[in-house]
Amino acid sequence: MPQDVLLIGALPPSCEARLAAFCTLHRIAAGTDPAELGPARAMIRGLVTGGVIGASCALMEALPRLEIVAVNGIGTDAVDLAHARARGIPVTVTPDVLTDDVADLAIGLLIATARRICVADRFVREGLWGRQALPLATKVSGKRLGILGLGRIGRAIARRAEGFGMDIAYTDLMPLPEAPWHYEPSLPALAHWADMLVVAAAGGPASRNLVNAEIIQALGPAGLLINVARGAIVDEAALVAALQQGRLGAAGLDVFTDEPRVPQALWTMDNVVLQPHRASATVETRIAMGDLVVANLEAHFAGRPLPTPVG
Ligand code: DGY
Repeated sequence: MPQDVLLIGALPPSCEARLAAFCTLHRIAAGTDPAELGPARAMIRGLVTGGVIGASCALMEALPRLEIVAVNGIGTDAVDLAHARARGIPVTVTPDVLTDDVADLAIGLLIATARRICVADRFVREGLWGRQALPLATKVSGKRLGILGLGRIGRAIARRAEGFGMDIAYTDLMPLPEAPWHYEPSLPALAHWADMLVVAAAGGPASRNLVNAEIIQALGPAGLLINVARGAIVDEAALVAALQQGRLGAAGLDVFTDEPRVPQALWTMDNVVLQPHRASATVETRIAMGDLVVANLEAHFAGRPLPTPVG
């Protein structure tokens, strides 16, 4: 039987070439009506999609022969898992291979935000060095770091933060027995304690707006918030208001509620560092992720166990 696969979003060229060797590839842009595929729509057996794009019920319903959804990422919050389960469609993700990159970017944002690296960069480029004073920044080493979500990425962030002599505590649904860091069951208490809070939890309804006005208030005017997880975990309106009113010190954000739309109020704030959802965007990691996507599709079509299915 032909193996028709729909790609929403590109994979690295080497991965697409591997996929094209055993599949017929079709493409649509995110948000496009699958009807645009014409008669091919009814042939699609595999779907490759991104973590943010996901696979809605409407999209999967439009693909009557769909057998597998391969997410090029780890987030399944945009995949209608109930629909997939009901139709017996396995969903795969790309765990582990992106952990280091996401943790690296979290630490990068932490340092860039606290040390105001982007502000200082602009200061140099604008020829202001030697002509104006640049306000001092905030020290990172030795500070209290709170981590919301101690999954693979949260743990990788904690291990990196140890190298900066940071005092580390985390919150999650339950303590992780082997984790050497202090477990704080209450997020408000963690935010009160922390100088800096990194959001590394999974997205989805259970974590929506977990970082609300109360948590932001608890972090306080000297506090710093980093988000490398999902925009919807933070109440974005409350975040913008707190930054505007000086009730939160600074923020480093890789993710937003309605990507690619970033609240315009943030664009001009010097105490904010913004990234366009780039945490896993390195050549090495994107190839490793793409290879896992291909490996899952290969295994599926060969009738072998899937390397990285969603549990
Ligand atoms: C992921 O893997 O979920 C990333 O955030 C990309 O969507």
